[in-house]
Amino acid sequence: MKVVAVLGSPHPDGPSSTIAKEVIRGAKDAGHEVVIYQIDDIDFKGCRGCGYCKQHDADCILDDGLKPYWKDLHECGALIVSAPNYASNVRGDMITYMNRHYCLFTIKDGNFTLRIHPGIKLVGIFSQGNSDPEAYMDNYKWFLGDFQNRAMELQDILVHTGGMPLDPDSEIMTKAYKLGKEL
Ligand SMILES: Cc1cc2nc3c(=O)[nH]c(=O)nc-3n(C[C@H](O)[C@H](O)[C@H](O)COP(=O)(O)O)c2cc1C
Repeated sequence: MKVVAVLGSPHPDGPSSTIAKEVIRGAKDAGHEVVIYQIDDIDFKGCRGCGYCKQHDADCILDDGLKPYWKDLHECGALIVSAPNYASNVRGDMITYMNRHYCLFTIKDGNFTLRIHPGIKLVGIFSQGNSDPEAYMDNYKWFLGDFQNRAMELQDILVHTGGMPLDPDSEIMTKAYKLGKEL
């Protein structure tokens, strides 16, 4: 199975990326192919609401760094998204990325039709300074809900509180590996 991972932190070795990489390690050990998108390395824009996707029943027409992503997404069986918390919510770049999934709906005869196969497994990983893992849970669920609205199936949400280093034997790292292995 193809797994797509979108890592939304500017810190490749920060907690959200480290935990996401542990999910990826598990997925690779299970024999899955993993395609990684590091959001800070992608030159992309926000949805322009141009309506091209709706008029042409097509993936997003914007010719930018997300172009190869759509093919990978249509081919994948699992999507891993990770991000730090900025200003009480998922980091803005990742919300911009999330908005681009607007193209995965077509409106026919007033009804919404999905343009992506249902059942993509979804994993959300977030890191925050606040020591209460529930503090921003509603915002994480709101973010992931946009993917669930595209018939993705949430497997788990991992929230890291505090800083680094992350003990490889910590509960969250053990959980992350298992999650990847069982995708
Ligand atoms: C601009 C900015 C805003 C932040 N806002 C919050 C916040 O509102 N609540 C919080 O708990 N942590 C906040 N943090 C802390 C980060 O979420 C925390 O350091 C996180 O672990 C960083 O993860 P990363 O290294 O994987 O990117 C903020 C950090 C930055 C840089």
